[in-house]
Amino acid sequence: MRVLVFGAGAMGSLVGGLLSRKHETVLVGRKSHVAAIRQQGLRITGKTNLVVRPEAVEVLPREPDPDLVIVAVKAYDTANAARALKSLVGTALFLSLQNGLGNEETLAASGARVLGGVTNQGITFVGPGEVHHAGTGDTYIGPFERAEREDAVRVVEAFNESGLSSHLVGDIRAELWLKAIVNACINPLTALLRAPNGYVLRTSATERIVHDVIQEGVRVAARYGVDLIATDVFERVASVVQATAENRSSMLQDLERGRRTEIDAINGAIARLGRKQGQPVPTNALLAGLIAAAETAPTTR
Ligand code: PAF
Repeated sequence: MRVLVFGAGAMGSLVGGLLSRKHETVLVGRKSHVAAIRQQGLRITGKTNLVVRPEAVEVLPREPDPDLVIVAVKAYDTANAARALKSLVGTALFLSLQNGLGNEETLAASGARVLGGVTNQGITFVGPGEVHHAGTGDTYIGPFERAEREDAVRVVEAFNESGLSSHLVGDIRAELWLKAIVNACINPLTALLRAPNGYVLRTSATERIVHDVIQEGVRVAARYGVDLIATDVFERVASVVQATAENRSSMLQDLERGRRTEIDAINGAIARLGRKQGQPVPTNALLAGLIAAAETAPTTR
């Protein structure tokens, strides 16, 4: 399979790096990361320990011909990614492996065949040419729009062969909501507390907040036809927290680097959709507001 990973951040680098051992893989990323990968390869440390040599480029090759495009940019960049990748819509299959709600819809609006995907890997971007695989987690992939079950089967096989434990799911929308709520629990709390994921369920105060985020999220999802059970969601949160206990969430990493976070596509999206339905969403709204404020607070720089 020829794979193009658009967005070689922590997640894109890990997934693309592992796939490159079995598949022709091109990573599209930032200048310094690309230069380091070209010079010394991509170093993955932690749960996975190896150096791989995927092709790395700063801009899309002039005539790319991938079978699979993995979109791994931040949620607020999905619309730009869809525009940049427009020429591949007729030939390639698209897979989003992003955090947050609405990414698959944005890619599908360009006419692409889209697979939805969620992954619970905990990965830290160490610096140019290096990512740290801090926690292993499974990946769930399924047809979202215009894609067939067989498309998802091929991708799941490719992921598993490359050491990325993956599962085919029939109802990817439910997985996307479940993951969004998991992120809504873990990401803002870890970012505000400056603590690794393992801290999220270590105090009764944070555990209460997690329960409130879940209750609100489950009610909003239900109005979109996605039926989740709050206790199952809590179990998923607990298992991701445990499996990635030492990882610093992507939102914490973003705040630490003074970068914009994905809060708008996570708690922000749950709060927005809830308000539209007239549902109370105070905890998600509060966390979204606090993270938005933290993005510009001087201590984050
Ligand atoms: O955004 C993240 O950091 C990840 O989605 C996860 C699974 C919470 C692990 O840190």
